[in-house]
Amino acid sequence: MRVLITGANGQLGLALQHVLAQHDAIIDTVDLPELDISSHESVTAWFGAHDAYDVVFNCAAFTNVDGCETNFAAAFAANALGPMNLARACAATGATLVHVSTDYVFAGNEPGARVEDDVPAPISAYGRSKLAGEGLALAANPRTHVVRTAWLYGEGRNFVRTMLSLADRFDEVTVVDDQVGNPTFAGDLARELVRIAHTEHFGVWHCTNEGTCSWADLAEEAYRLAGVATKVRRCTSAEWKAMHPESADRPAFSSLQNARLEATIGNGMRPWKEALAEYLAVAPARGGVA
Ligand SMILES: NC(=O)c1ccc[n+]([C@@H]2O[C@H](COP(=O)([O-])OP(=O)(O)OC[C@H]3O[C@@H](n4cnc5c(N)ncnc54)[C@H](OP(=O)(O)O)[C@@H]3O)[C@@H](O)[C@H]2O)c1
Repeated sequence: MRVLITGANGQLGLALQHVLAQHDAIIDTVDLPELDISSHESVTAWFGAHDAYDVVFNCAAFTNVDGCETNFAAAFAANALGPMNLARACAATGATLVHVSTDYVFAGNEPGARVEDDVPAPISAYGRSKLAGEGLALAANPRTHVVRTAWLYGEGRNFVRTMLSLADRFDEVTVVDDQVGNPTFAGDLARELVRIAHTEHFGVWHCTNEGTCSWADLAEEAYRLAGVATKVRRCTSAEWKAMHPESADRPAFSSLQNARLEATIGNGMRPWKEALAEYLAVAPARGGVA
């Protein structure tokens, strides 16, 4: 299998590199500044200069949710035009595209987990740019898997790391408690992406670790597992917004159900607390990947 990983130095890109190293695959990896996926010319040149790929995993994205509000042009270029450019190049060369998307394509205004066929209605610039990317990629290449995940942590900047570094400096941290979702370990997602890539069930998938919690619950569990004494002070989204007016709105009920996995190849995602424990115990410096 010849594979390309774009955004290869991000959390998911690094996790995929670890996972694919255990497979019989020839792996090309690339990230900014070597390849900017928002440039049609650069993507075309990259594919022209390399032997055809069987699978392209797109882990590249503008993931700063608050930053997307003030720089929508850059967000749209990376999150919408980028996957479209990759999908076109894949279609021209017969490659499968595995493109990663987000729970933030949903409004999150009703309790219960969203399944793949539920109607998206993003409330943030990030969510709008990612939803556009899903549609453009699916339209450009019939061999496209769009895999929505959520609350990702691995090797790099993420919520869990931020909470642990705040605990070095503060006895108490304030964390939003009225937004719930599915914390997901990048290593687990990477393993599932490889399984999905081997199927011909093209279209949209949900893939998160099992179970739902709030950001405050996640912070508290991370502190418990890491043996940190720092306390979590729970606040509402409204209180957070008052303290950080520049922050993007985020869905209140952001939980996804891995319905398509359950109905096809089986849901290989474990409970989020188990995954978090491994991440923190095994090798946090390497994103929890042994
Ligand atoms: N993080 C989450 O909580 C979360 C939740 C749901 C879904 N997702 C999705 O999961 C995927 C992986 O996220 P992640 O957390 O691994 O992201 P990440 O750690 O931010 O990595 C993204 C990588 O893409 C690169 N990149 C940004 N713009 C690019 C462009 N125009 N061309 C090429 N590369 C570009 C980044 O480079 P720079 O660092 O130099 O910008 C970075 O190396 C993304 O599709 C994201 O939308 C993430």
